Amino acid sequence: DQARQIQQTLAEFRLSKAQLLEVKKRMRIEIERGLGKNTHKEATVKMLPTYVRSTPDGTENGDFLALDLGGTNFRVLLVKIRSGKRRTVEMHNKIYAIPIEVMQGTGEELFDHIVHCISDFLDYMGMKSARLPLGFTFSFPCYQTSLDAGILVTWTKGFKATDCEGEDVVDLLREAIKRKEEFELDVVAIVNDTVGTMMTCAYEEPTCEVGLIAGTGSNACYMEEMRNIEMVEGNEGRMCVNMEWGAFGDNGCLDDIRTIYDQSVDENSLNEGKQRYEKMCSGMYLGEIVRQILIDLTKRGFLFRGQISETLKTRGIFETKFLSQIESDRLALLQVRAILQQLGLDSTCDDSIIVKEVCGTVSRRAAQICGAGMAAVVDKIRENRGLDHLDVTVGVDGTLYKLHPHFSRIFQQTVKELAPKCETILLSEDGSGKGAALITAVGCRQRELEA
Ligand code: BG6
Ligand code: GLC
Repeated sequence: DQARQIQQTLAEFRLSKAQLLEVKKRMRIEIERGLGKNTHKEATVKMLPTYVRSTPDGTENGDFLALDLGGTNFRVLLVKIRSGKRRTVEMHNKIYAIPIEVMQGTGEELFDHIVHCISDFLDYMGMKSARLPLGFTFSFPCYQTSLDAGILVTWTKGFKATDCEGEDVVDLLREAIKRKEEFELDVVAIVNDTVGTMMTCAYEEPTCEVGLIAGTGSNACYMEEMRNIEMVEGNEGRMCVNMEWGAFGDNGCLDDIRTIYDQSVDENSLNEGKQRYEKMCSGMYLGEIVRQILIDLTKRGFLFRGQISETLKTRGIFETKFLSQIESDRLALLQVRAILQQLGLDSTCDDSIIVKEVCGTVSRRAAQICGAGMAAVVDKIRENRGLDHLDVTVGVDGTLYKLHPHFSRIFQQTVKELAPKCETILLSEDGSGKGAALITAVGCRQRELEA
């Protein structure tokens, strides 16, 4: 009977093909809203124009700085791109910590910290006087009016610095560089991580016209026809659109598949009511869903001898790397117990079986609904081009995609099942920094042409 009740609880997370097709269909509706002239203001999936109009063609050239802010790590990079017959990209980078007080302090403190890290990096590379062009990977929703202007719509994930929302992030960076009075830089492009990832992959594989992040957050971008992007003037060619699909569901359209555990995760978050889809399928929140279920099962006496420990009450204990370990098929149950022990959870053998099943159920749903979203995207691209069949490559990055033992497989299966007219190939290259530098290279060339 206990087993039956546990299965009943988990059943809500097990979505049928019909339900997944429904998710795909609703994503398509929200995509159209985001693109439409009269609907995009209220749209939850914002479909933000990026002013990136093509993927790399190999003629990009030069030395660039790149910043990469908003994922697990904050990085500063030097990227040296050489065009020609033997194209090469050489990268140097350094990872810096961003303390929570800085992520959630004032905007000025955050940007001063960023500039402090750039300064350290330039010292480290011996390049203080170079005045390099810079591409800023900023993995948050920005309303762009050009390649080098981006107004932060809202913070997402773990960030909450004051006085940034509604401001142009490029201005905030330029002002912080001025305040420092140590070096000059030319900020040329602001880039979402999905877009950077798409460009990084497209440099290797020209058929790559979609970017996906399954990491701390969840999001996608793709090359949309200009004629369909009604907020941007012009009908010729294509432009990359940053979907910001994490906000899918914020109008309640996913409420029928959200569970009480999803609601608790939302209520405990920094941005209640926002990013509801992201909270069901990205690394920052999967462990939290698991934790909410475990708390409930413990309360009902099915786990941990009915004792809710302080550890179990702690936010964020199940990071992606732990979930990934727990779900690894190579681990014996004894090792699962060891991991739980390491986290401070005293478990029996039965407990560890249940925990593993909870983790598996939550991450499977994540991969499936993420796949349903992608199915909507690739089918839209196929229809845009009036094709019965489309071959498309998706550039992917993120800790969930890379570390989790099952996510990528289930994701790919789902896309295949829900968009059978598309052959969707996944490609993963490291980081969005290279892509940001490629975009910066194009931006520099444009400036020279205009000058
Ligand atoms: C990498 C980027 O491509 O993937 C990061 O360089 C990005 O900026 C990240 O945010 C997503 O992964 P995660 O798991 O670190 O959020
Ligand atoms: C969040 C951000 C989005 C980013 C994604 C992945 O959803 O809003 O801009 O692409 O996380 O990092």
